[in-house]
Amino acid sequence: MLIKRRAGWEMPEREATPEGVFLNRRQLIGAGLIAAAGLPQAAAAQTPDLYPARRNEAYKLDVPLTAEDDAANYNNFYEFGMSKDIVDASRRLATKPWTVQVEGLVEKPFEIDFDELLRKLPLEERLYRFRCVEAWAMAVPWTGIPLKSFVALAKPLSGAKYIRFETFLNPRVAPGQGQRWYPWPYTEGLTIAEATNELPLLVTGIYGKPLPTQHGAPIRLITPWKYGFKSVKSIRKISFVAERPKTFWEGLQASEYGFWANVNPAVPHPRWSQASEQVLGSRDRRPTLIYNGYGEQVAGLYKGLEGERLFM
Ligand code: MTE
Repeated sequence: MLIKRRAGWEMPEREATPEGVFLNRRQLIGAGLIAAAGLPQAAAAQTPDLYPARRNEAYKLDVPLTAEDDAANYNNFYEFGMSKDIVDASRRLATKPWTVQVEGLVEKPFEIDFDELLRKLPLEERLYRFRCVEAWAMAVPWTGIPLKSFVALAKPLSGAKYIRFETFLNPRVAPGQGQRWYPWPYTEGLTIAEATNELPLLVTGIYGKPLPTQHGAPIRLITPWKYGFKSVKSIRKISFVAERPKTFWEGLQASEYGFWANVNPAVPHPRWSQASEQVLGSRDRRPTLIYNGYGEQVAGLYKGLEGERLFM
């Protein structure tokens, strides 16, 4: 184990902040207070005319949708602290203007303005299950661009085998990034085959509105068949590379958080079971599903890779 400090997702369930504490906090905080404090007003200004986007009915849920307030007030965003209560802190992140840099093994590296990206590639809404490695789960309507459309836009060269995603780096607005034992900036990775599967979304909205900062504004990844830590927030750089990138959590603790991190009830985390999941905003637990219920879409990606640690 490389770190002495306990990661937030090692927190026992009983220590989690009760959701009731957070009810109505959005209304209570009020945009005026933020403006008075001289802090940027995050996602609110971003191309609201594009939301809600057309829902893609191919992606249906067999579990209830999570209440918006529950999803919006129980977050992991270590840049802004190790608790689940990072809404206020995350609002310090100025998300406009925002550019995404595309580099590495592509025909021509480029930098694209976030608003321009939204006009270039159509948005759609999808209802997805989401499963955190900490064994809590939710189901939410994400709005985003299918990652495979973005890959087509980037025009990778044949030598590109993986995609590496990198979050912003600015310890002045993100105090967590002042903690030197973490390998900042947060990075994640997928194989090109995974990235061009139908499921991954570059998410820019949730519940029919632009993404708020606590969910990773203005643009984050969502890979619904993998544990939530793969779904990197507030992406600044996307690199096409030949070698498998070392990811943030892998760099910190490879024995517990691997590259593949596909959901599997039969493969426990070294310190807790993954057999069932706590439903966010409810007392219910339900059984965990292999690939979080998306086996039909993704199981084929892993044929021939059975020797890999696919589920951790
Ligand atoms: N991305 C960044 N940049 N920093 C983080 O700490 N946490 C991850 C993931 N993406 C994280 C991140 C984890 S552990 C989870 S479970 C999800 O974001 C949580 O997403 P949510 O807060 O929108 O529910």
